[in-house]
Amino acid sequence: MLDALPRLPDDPILGLAAACRADPNPLKVDLTVGIYMDEDGVCPVFDAVRRAQDALVAEEISKAYLPPAGVADFNEGMQRLVLGADSAALADGRVSSIQAPGGCGALRIGAEIAHAAAPGARVWVSDPTWPVHIPLLGSVGLQFETYRYYEPATHGVNFDGMIEDLKAAGSGDLVLLHGCCHNPCGADLSQEQWGVIADMAEAQGFVPFIDIAYQGLGDGLEEDAAGLRQLAGRVPEMIIAASCSKNMGLYRERTGCTIFLCADADGAAAVLSQAKVAARRVYSMPPAHGALLAGRVLADAQLTELWQAELGQMCERINGLRSNLVEKLQGATGRDFEFIRKEKGMFSFLGLSKEQVERLRAEHSVYMLGSSRINVAGVNASNIDYLANAIATVL
Ligand SMILES: Cc1ncc(COP(=O)(O)O)c(C=O)c1O
Repeated sequence: MLDALPRLPDDPILGLAAACRADPNPLKVDLTVGIYMDEDGVCPVFDAVRRAQDALVAEEISKAYLPPAGVADFNEGMQRLVLGADSAALADGRVSSIQAPGGCGALRIGAEIAHAAAPGARVWVSDPTWPVHIPLLGSVGLQFETYRYYEPATHGVNFDGMIEDLKAAGSGDLVLLHGCCHNPCGADLSQEQWGVIADMAEAQGFVPFIDIAYQGLGDGLEEDAAGLRQLAGRVPEMIIAASCSKNMGLYRERTGCTIFLCADADGAAAVLSQAKVAARRVYSMPPAHGALLAGRVLADAQLTELWQAELGQMCERINGLRSNLVEKLQGATGRDFEFIRKEKGMFSFLGLSKEQVERLRAEHSVYMLGSSRINVAGVNASNIDYLANAIATVL
């Protein structure tokens, strides 16, 4: 039976990262996978998380299963973090959430619930979107439609195109929006534009499905959630998939949650009961370690303060790198790269052709995705000049 299965190629992004690791060139630059890296190229453990972990290890007396919805402190902390402590929906008790294995698990549970509520529902995704969205949501049985989003010519959002396309989204449809720090393009909606999407959701009845995997890495924790909070204040229903992989550095601990906004408290309880059943049939029980750490960080004022300061430094560093990259690239190439400064989070498209990207890899050991998406956090003081000069030679 199993020998009928053909061998599949590696995931293109992970395959590129592996090729970079195997490259013996000491000057190589890895701008592939979306993980935060510090000046030394290390993806660090937050001090706040380490402290929570020390306390957890000292106190832990059991590894018994968690309850099906996960760690209560974590779920409550995430609801406040994402929706805001002063959220009216929270005060009205019409929010529920379930811990999930990372943002991917959270997206999957959101998709399972959407499919249970409306089998064969359509999900509108941005062009482009994070490629993993497609198998993650599609394998549940949801259908896809695409809305225009990134405009290479302007390096910004084609908002008119987006609105035009979303006019066809109606009740029974979901519209998948990146909460902040769009992956892969880094071009985000303005608050006014989020307001227009909220108008459309109200008038047309589609359900916003928000993927927020980078809260705190664009402009700050509150600022990055402002768009989805506008929506939450306006629409009766919404699904949010949140991840702690990036903003708490808990990548391998698989820490995320799906948050449901429903019309009322009964609806929120009913959806949670469905989510627990969905989780049971997909992976049974949530993983404990990451959510116990994040739950502690979010429930303890001192740890929260420490974590927010560390995250603030990361955010500042990324934005500083964006500015430095603009200066260096403009200096080396004489071309306009100002758009990199305006984009948010870890990603930007450099606007290079596939051939130019290929030459960067073959001739300079500079690794980025074929679309010329770079992870800005992979840039540092010791590789920025080399990188800018390499890009200048292929341009
Ligand atoms: C857009 C987007 N959504 C969700 C995720 C989920 O990540 P994780 O499952 O590691 O929490 C990622 C991770 O790269 C992402 O880029």
